[in-house]
Amino acid sequence: MSLSLIAKSIKASPTLKLNEKFAILKEKGDPVIHLGGGEPKSKIPMDAILATVAHVNTGEVRYAPADGIPALKQAVIRYTDEFYEKTVKPEHVMASGGAKQAIMVALQAILNPQEEVIFPVPYWVSYPDMVKLIGSIPIPFLPEDGTFYPRLKDIEDRVGSYTKAVIINSPNNPSGAMYSEEFIADVVQFCEKKDIWLIMDDIYHRLIFDGRKPVNCFKYAKKQDENSKIILVNGVSKQYAMTGFRIGWAVGNKKVIEAMSNIQGHQTSGPSVLLQKAAVGALNGIQSGIESLRVTLENNRNVMVDLLRSFEGIKVKKPDGTFYCFADFSAYEKNSNKLSEFLIDKVQVLTVPGKEFGMDGYLRLSFCGTLKDIQEGVERMKWALDPNSPNELYIGDRKLVRDWS
Ligand SMILES: Cc1ncc(COP(=O)(O)O)c(C=O)c1O
Repeated sequence: MSLSLIAKSIKASPTLKLNEKFAILKEKGDPVIHLGGGEPKSKIPMDAILATVAHVNTGEVRYAPADGIPALKQAVIRYTDEFYEKTVKPEHVMASGGAKQAIMVALQAILNPQEEVIFPVPYWVSYPDMVKLIGSIPIPFLPEDGTFYPRLKDIEDRVGSYTKAVIINSPNNPSGAMYSEEFIADVVQFCEKKDIWLIMDDIYHRLIFDGRKPVNCFKYAKKQDENSKIILVNGVSKQYAMTGFRIGWAVGNKKVIEAMSNIQGHQTSGPSVLLQKAAVGALNGIQSGIESLRVTLENNRNVMVDLLRSFEGIKVKKPDGTFYCFADFSAYEKNSNKLSEFLIDKVQVLTVPGKEFGMDGYLRLSFCGTLKDIQEGVERMKWALDPNSPNELYIGDRKLVRDWS
């Protein structure tokens, strides 16, 4: 079939594929445990529900402006003021169909084919394919010191005449690493000096642990407002557990936001007004749900890390934030796709192969589910992988027998 070169270069989103696999197994009645998820299980804020219902009850649900409804822009302006101590105007804000679309449209607005975008490994699965969708070139890099914490030198070494942008996601999906304030300051200043765009993917910035505080990239920027090349991306998916609402936003200079809004206007129009209203409800409503989600996640993280550390041979660093553990399983199996398939086949535990994030030998395990799933999921994995495990394991009344070594 004569598909385009771009279409041929793009893979299906591995995490979305895994969700489909989980749904099929669940439907069959299999006792599958999802440790591959990317969404909190808490209920969405009541203020989001009320705002949606109130709008639907008007009986009029119409097109929204391509760049977002004024009420959502106002809520984002307030959010930006609260978390970034930065005053922006409506023309600096664009609402979109999730942070994902905000990043995609930002890349479309700034990149030409063959230009390069630099980001650290491990990276969020979509960055390389999003860059390729424009015919541009992803330049992922592994921090040279072998940690999950890049240094400026790692970026400096890769910047050339084709470099157009850097993407920073902190805390990071999948490693959970929150980059130091010093690193963020260095990157902001370096990008300004080199006149390259900096996309800050802050989608997990409030889901951080051990007393950490969100880092404000704007604090270190010398170029402000229309001269700024920072595009800040965030959304309601993770912090408000509103993944299905598909509302995110970008904050940037007036010209780039205008270009992004033009592109979005032709691609999808503005996101559904109903869902934007829900996001306004969440952003302006009672905020206690975020802290309780954060506390739950911190507790889940501690449980998961302790369980994983009881595995011989597995190396795991304590995540600073997000809801993911990125653990090195290479002592058991270097091919993470093979390992992930083995775990789903043998003990029905769904994990995401590290290869999808640019690091084979690792698995991403989510701790956004229930404690019961975390405990049972990791126990099943341990049973499957540890050669000294007993020969049998019961899942409910199903008996599993180890027929592998
Ligand atoms: C790092 C990162 N950025 C962006 C997104 C997209 O978020 P949204 O659901 O708002 O599109 C995700 C979702 O998994 C993510 O992990």
